[in-house]
Amino acid sequence: MAKQFDVVVIGAGPGGYIAAIRAAQLGMSVACIDAWSNAKGGPAPGGTCTNVGCIPSKALLQSSEYYEHAGHHFADHGIEVKGLGLDLAKLLARKDTVVKQNNDGILFLFKKNKVTFFHGTGSFSGQVDGGWSVKVSGPSEEELVAKHVIVATGSSPRALPNLPFDEKQVLSNDGALSIGSVPKRLGVIGAGVIGLELGSVWRRLGAEVTILEAMPNFLPAADEQIAKEALKVLTKQGLKINLGVKIGEVKTGKTVTVSYTDAAGAEQSLVVDKLIVSIGRLPNTQGLNAEGVGLKLDERGFIVVDDECRTGLPNVWAIGDVVRGPMLAHKAEEEGVAVAERIAGQHGHVNFDTIPSVIYTSPEISWVGKTEQALKNEGRAYKAGTFPFLANGRARALGDTTGMVKVLADAKTDEILGVHIIGPQASELISECVVAMEFRAASEDIARICHAHPSLSEAVKEAALAVDKRALNF
Ligand code: FAD
Ligand code: NAI
Repeated sequence: MAKQFDVVVIGAGPGGYIAAIRAAQLGMSVACIDAWSNAKGGPAPGGTCTNVGCIPSKALLQSSEYYEHAGHHFADHGIEVKGLGLDLAKLLARKDTVVKQNNDGILFLFKKNKVTFFHGTGSFSGQVDGGWSVKVSGPSEEELVAKHVIVATGSSPRALPNLPFDEKQVLSNDGALSIGSVPKRLGVIGAGVIGLELGSVWRRLGAEVTILEAMPNFLPAADEQIAKEALKVLTKQGLKINLGVKIGEVKTGKTVTVSYTDAAGAEQSLVVDKLIVSIGRLPNTQGLNAEGVGLKLDERGFIVVDDECRTGLPNVWAIGDVVRGPMLAHKAEEEGVAVAERIAGQHGHVNFDTIPSVIYTSPEISWVGKTEQALKNEGRAYKAGTFPFLANGRARALGDTTGMVKVLADAKTDEILGVHIIGPQASELISECVVAMEFRAASEDIARICHAHPSLSEAVKEAALAVDKRALNF
């Protein structure tokens, strides 16, 4: 006999597991199905983010940054390090432990919130009395019936045509997080978020990293001034970033040879020991029986939803990477909460204009709202204020003065339209700006709020003051 639930969530990534918990908090009976298995074949909820994305990449970024500091920066503080060594196996094992802690944490949260978890693949069987029938297959085998279904099946790495990932030489994010020995020469195709973050990890650990990017502009989604600064700093650190290339044939053997045409039109080839391909991700919809039940996909394979994450099927919702919008864990989570609240008859809401973006390189890069080039293209009158970390006392004390904060505000109303940061702790500093924009604050609001001294957040305040040309420390 089929097990009956108010809500079945397919996928336990940040979108799915958060939706399941929120729905349970609101008094619904909830099941969550997830197919991800750990190395021992057991359940590993948390999706891409926990298993091969946000969490393990940040663990490696942290370890590799400590290594780089010990090797290159401690001396500036008068700290001598002798006999510095790298135990890569331990560094990777620590990352795996962090992942497992997160997997276990989600299983604990499911128990605490009375969410029933099924380890297996979920697929639509069809519409039945009382809602939707969803089949779970392997390791668990179940037939579930739910009034509402939330599809949160996420995304997978996109491969280059004719170059499947073997995860030994040609690596997706998965293999790139587990390279067993530091490659002498590492190639990266795609200078997007993954290419820059994982390229930075392996460069810090000793690899010679070359990145090949198709677009002529670096980080086109970021503010141009910030992207320019980022390119300068990352290049100085040793990342070789080639823009405007066209990838040709890729040959694998003892080494990997990538033929490409450079920006000037000259034929080039790059020989590396390993190649990371990070050229974007594709939505996961196979196995859902989407076609069988008429769940509509767009031309790029994303599930078609409206602004509130409703699909064309009654009481079937879709969230996160499998639908339009930025592929970010916090966007998936916000959609999950909003959908659970809508199912409960509340007015769940996601403000797509204030979703922050962060690139966890060193320095970190973060932003929220509009870029200066977008405002120019719109013909919107704006004022800009920038403040360099070089003039911030805390940054000088840290010994990390690269970068700046840039605040963009409406020329007439002074409402903050965008904030762009490159510098230490940019991932944390952006939150204040998101809150300000969510409350439709003016730049003067940030400028008049007391910020602790000495703190990096004073650079945000000073950039807000600079909008009115009255920065105090620069
Ligand atoms: P996923 O996390 O992909 O989860 C989907 C889950 O559904 C998976 O467990 C999958 O196995 C399961 N599934 C699929 N089909 C089925 C089925 N039919 N039945 C049952 N289960 C199924 N984002 C950030 O915001 N910050 C970061 O720092 C960040 N770093 C990243 C680093 C890397 C290397 C990568 C690859 C991504 C990173 N991201 C980051 C993006 C982030 O991981 C995704 O945006 C996020 O995981 C999307 O969440 P989701 O719930 O939509 O899908
Ligand atoms: P991306 O979209 O960030 O970058 C892909 C890059 O590859 C682009 O610059 C693109 O122009 C380039 N490219 C595409 N095809 C190419 C080709 N044939 N040859 C050369 N270059 C090519 O995608 P990425 O880095 O794979 O990351 C996937 C997703 O994961 C992103 O959408 C991102 O949102 C998410 N993510 C988020 C992180 C964060 O929030 N810190 C960290 C890592 C990933």
